[in-house]
Amino acid sequence: MTKYAGGALIPTLRVERGDAANLSMQLATHLRELILSGDLPPGTRLPASRVLAGEQGVSRTTAVAAYEQLTSEGLLVSRVGAGTYISDEVRPMAPRPEPPAPPERLPRLAFFSREISEQFFPRLSHPRSPRPFVTGMPAFDAFPMAQWARLSARYWRGNRAQLMSYPEATGLPELRAAICRHLRANRGLVCQPEEVFVFAGAQDAFLQIAQILIDPGDRVWMENPGAIGARNAFLAQGAALIPVPVDGEGIDVAVGQRAAPDARLAFVTPAHQHPLGTTMSRDRRFELLAAAEAMGAWIVEDDYVGEFHYGRSPLPPLKALDGAGRVVYVGTFSKALFPAIRLGYAVVPGALVEMFERTLSAAAHGVSHAMQSIVADFMTEGHFSAHLRRMRDLYRERRDALMDAAERHLAGTLTVTPTDTGFHTVGLLADGRDEGGAADAAAAAGIATAPLSRFTLQPIPQTGLTLGFSAVAPHEIERGVERLAAALRAGAGTGAGQGKPVAGGAIRR
Ligand SMILES: Cc1ncc(COP(=O)(O)O)c(C=O)c1O
Repeated sequence: MTKYAGGALIPTLRVERGDAANLSMQLATHLRELILSGDLPPGTRLPASRVLAGEQGVSRTTAVAAYEQLTSEGLLVSRVGAGTYISDEVRPMAPRPEPPAPPERLPRLAFFSREISEQFFPRLSHPRSPRPFVTGMPAFDAFPMAQWARLSARYWRGNRAQLMSYPEATGLPELRAAICRHLRANRGLVCQPEEVFVFAGAQDAFLQIAQILIDPGDRVWMENPGAIGARNAFLAQGAALIPVPVDGEGIDVAVGQRAAPDARLAFVTPAHQHPLGTTMSRDRRFELLAAAEAMGAWIVEDDYVGEFHYGRSPLPPLKALDGAGRVVYVGTFSKALFPAIRLGYAVVPGALVEMFERTLSAAAHGVSHAMQSIVADFMTEGHFSAHLRRMRDLYRERRDALMDAAERHLAGTLTVTPTDTGFHTVGLLADGRDEGGAADAAAAAGIATAPLSRFTLQPIPQTGLTLGFSAVAPHEIERGVERLAAALRAGAGTGAGQGKPVAGGAIRR
């Protein structure tokens, strides 16, 4: 520390005018750090407040306020006529100790963390901006943001007690009612508002549903290939997952019954099988409902893109056919609006209503009151159904663009499966083509696809890549298909990254 006539020279001290903290608070904070770290030792004389003010380009009042603050904390003392000093009483803090070495054996982690997380939870991150062929991303470019902003601004001018207190654990009543009206009009599903529970996205719903319905060791049928998020929720609850193959009609119920006739739950994506994009046939829906009743099992129906169908009128959800009260229906606003709002919902059978109410209340569950209320207004005032109508046309156009471009550029390399629903389809590789190599070649060309093996619990006969069509405009889809075709031709036969399944088999304890 250099000394000079005006007291210690403190070269590292600087105030930032753009900083939110006021200037005297900044001065006091920096000086406190220097004193407690020992950089300014006890007994050091500080510059006079007038000198400090001049050096830092602040008013004298600001410098005096900083000194007064530190004096009141006991870090500085003023000696009449002699200036301001660091108190002799200050004991600089010892330098921060190194983090303790890990003990030989940490306390044991849960089964889930020890045995499952590494195999099943690779660190996959969602692309955050639109590009070909990212899956599950709505058309950000077509969202009516001005309308949304107007509703948001109006919300924040509302009644403070309502918008600032804890929201209902089960969901905002206006939103629960609006969801019922939407499901009746758009999905042919009749329900009561008290059967609707609002969650922070479908994923949050899966976690709560698993907690309410599954005991560790319970057998759960999972579509193979199938949805990763739901699979993880059941695994986290200790479920023994039973991979059940999927054919052109949906989950193969007969195989499921042979593999695990005592399952507690079946998870399915009937409207748009994830990831293959097929729709569960009417017969298969009834077969699954009958099997669930015979086994005494629940069904969780994930209708994540149910609003988006481009052909003739779609089949109703399983939930609409469920006379026995077995189906828990899960929907989301991540596709119909956008995923950042984190809003989804479950419609539960009457027999589960009380249990959901109790569990959610006990856990002080609840999601943003603001988002729920703005979405409820968006729905009630008719913007939601108008937006859905526009988006169906837009996604149909984008789906057509993908199919056209694929026919022209991908023939012989990838066979793109037609789909009449959802946000994505899959491109199947010709026999013998290495899936991992194809996915790596696409990734190297900046194209967002995932190999089908990422979604499997057990190897499947098909190899291929997911192809989202919702996020970008037709001309970008066209260019993306050209780039993908070039990347696949260039990467053919590299053998890079063999398409090993991420998950190697059924999980049983
Ligand atoms: C199969 C499936 N279900 C549900 C969802 C929606 O999840 P969330 O509502 O948590 O965003 C997704 C998201 O991509 C999905 O792929």
